Amino acid sequence: MSQDNIQSTLQEDRTFPPKHNFVNTAALSVTSLETLYASAKQDNELFWAEQARQELDWQHLFTTTLDDSKAPFYRWFHDGKLNVSYNCLDRQLKDHADKTAIIFEGEPGDIEHISYRVLHQRVCRFANALKNQDVKVGDRVIIYMPMIAEAVIAMQACARIGAIHSVVFGGFSAQSLKDRIEDTGAKVVITADGGHRGGKIIELKATTDLALVEGCDNVKTVIIFKRTGHEVTLKPGRDIWWSDAEQGQTTDCEPEWLPADHPLFLLYTSGSTGKPKGIQHSTGGYLLNAITSMRWVFDIQASDIFWCTADVGWITGHTYVAYGPLATGATIVIYEGVPTIPDAGRFWDICQRHKVTTFYTAPTAIRALMKIGDEIPNGYDLSSLRLLGTVGEPINPKAWIWYHNIIGQQRCPIVDTWWQTETGAHMIAPVPSFTITKPGSCTKALPGIDAAIVNEQGQEITVADEGGFLVIRKPWPSMMQTVWGDDQRYLDTYWDHFNGRYYLAGDSARRDKDGYFWIMGRIDDVLNVSGHRLGTMEIESALVAHDNVSEAAVVGRPHDIKGESIFAYVVLKGERPTNGIDDQLTDELRKWVATQIGPIAKPDDIRYADNLPKTRSGKIMRRLLRTIAKGEAITQDTSTLENEDILPQLQGKA
Ligand code: WTA
Repeated sequence: MSQDNIQSTLQEDRTFPPKHNFVNTAALSVTSLETLYASAKQDNELFWAEQARQELDWQHLFTTTLDDSKAPFYRWFHDGKLNVSYNCLDRQLKDHADKTAIIFEGEPGDIEHISYRVLHQRVCRFANALKNQDVKVGDRVIIYMPMIAEAVIAMQACARIGAIHSVVFGGFSAQSLKDRIEDTGAKVVITADGGHRGGKIIELKATTDLALVEGCDNVKTVIIFKRTGHEVTLKPGRDIWWSDAEQGQTTDCEPEWLPADHPLFLLYTSGSTGKPKGIQHSTGGYLLNAITSMRWVFDIQASDIFWCTADVGWITGHTYVAYGPLATGATIVIYEGVPTIPDAGRFWDICQRHKVTTFYTAPTAIRALMKIGDEIPNGYDLSSLRLLGTVGEPINPKAWIWYHNIIGQQRCPIVDTWWQTETGAHMIAPVPSFTITKPGSCTKALPGIDAAIVNEQGQEITVADEGGFLVIRKPWPSMMQTVWGDDQRYLDTYWDHFNGRYYLAGDSARRDKDGYFWIMGRIDDVLNVSGHRLGTMEIESALVAHDNVSEAAVVGRPHDIKGESIFAYVVLKGERPTNGIDDQLTDELRKWVATQIGPIAKPDDIRYADNLPKTRSGKIMRRLLRTIAKGEAITQDTSTLENEDILPQLQGKA
């Protein structure tokens, strides 16, 4: 494992016990949490069975909790039947139909409050519209939308009729969209005439058209929501406005009762090799952990206004926008745009105006807002906040303390939540009324989650602060089911390393003397740029797909705000530019990667060399490239290099 850049140098001794005010008003008492831990420890399966009976409404109750006959293709509650949309919406109607489910705020400032009753009606009507377009149980539907309420409506509508949605982040390019449409074999694409982001309109429909120019043969219908009102072209026979698709559809739509292991959605995520993987999640198990984590980690209560800033294009936007909060009857905030429009106070302004109680965001956003200074947040009334959360990458203690002091005003606990697209929901995270937090640590595993750090042989590391592989040793309900269409890749990526015994998360981590987990970084070649996982391999293939490029290697370099920035070494087909400088080509290559993958994948730096550093066996020496990208002195043995002359080129010195 490549531990070179993840050696632990972090010494953080500050501790933050739960505050009395929080503990006294928390939904979860210390004793009930102790009971949860104890019963999970006693019998993990029984524990989850009880949770599933208590937290979910079943049309047909399961009799088998966990079928492990084809492990690691675990099946949770599989002979039970339920519907996710029913569990999110219908069951709120009896007692609080008029409660606000969604507070939507567009980037231009338009605001809409949608009650559970109205949300239910809209989801049902759109579900009927989908059925009318011949969408059936098990069909795949691509959702490529702005961060607006209709994105959630589309997801819920798919869930209602048993269609499997795959949301594609609106920042992805036509090529990435096309790859996902083809891999899923989707029948329908749901998009919009655009969305507001950063003061501009993102051209989602135009990008969809590009993606569909050739291939994508299964796509029969494109449904377009009118968000911006700017002009788009419709292809007759294929394209239909959302409002036209809904014409004549009623607001009654009986939910489809589905086996608990029916796939709810596919979400693509980067791996170290090959194309992105379609992570497949289930219906029952997924929803269960979405709910339990809302209760344990977010202490969700009836009066909460819950705001998770993640886009629905990422797993966080699935579990903590579209599903978890609604299934617990919460009021959520959805904001369409960026934090800096009209100025860097937008997040705090939203918190103040909508009286947000729970705010969940990524370290990259916290760092960016921290950099702007305290004056802006200090100018807002943030007294409604009672709990803060972070996710996506390790949060550095400095940013944690700023978040605690300036945003949480030393009143709000911070939950640093470790989990992944693959795990579906929080795995390691504080329970705010119970856990003493430490800045930079995601603390301990939640009840029923058996996380551990092991060495290469799979033995648990018991020495404090010694780094190793983060694994999960027992199956849990919201675990991914497989990689869509590629069971072998599921086995190879997550289970092979420890012979099917443990789930390999792909992160390295250590535990301190109190047993707290500290995530150290990825063990594979996956970058974490602004909280988004990007495969170096994908960026390299995008670069190589350019006519002028013959070889490319991409590494991450620590970055103050983004966490990691993308550093690319490129070998051209023709001559290397004089002194390694060609601003025009660099610009062109950056734009090229943006069109191939999306703007988030644009390399920050590109350096040209005659060759890449390789070992005699032909492996790219990534460790060396990382050292060079950081501008550090080379201490590695470079004697195996075929051509030592390239070192100054890689260092930008020749
Ligand atoms: C990283 C996001 C440290 C980690 C939910 C993981 C974190 C990857 C944390 C998953 C955290 C996520 N502390 N690292 N609290 N949360 N990560 O699939 O490397 O987009 O494996 O899911 O992000 O990223 P993904």
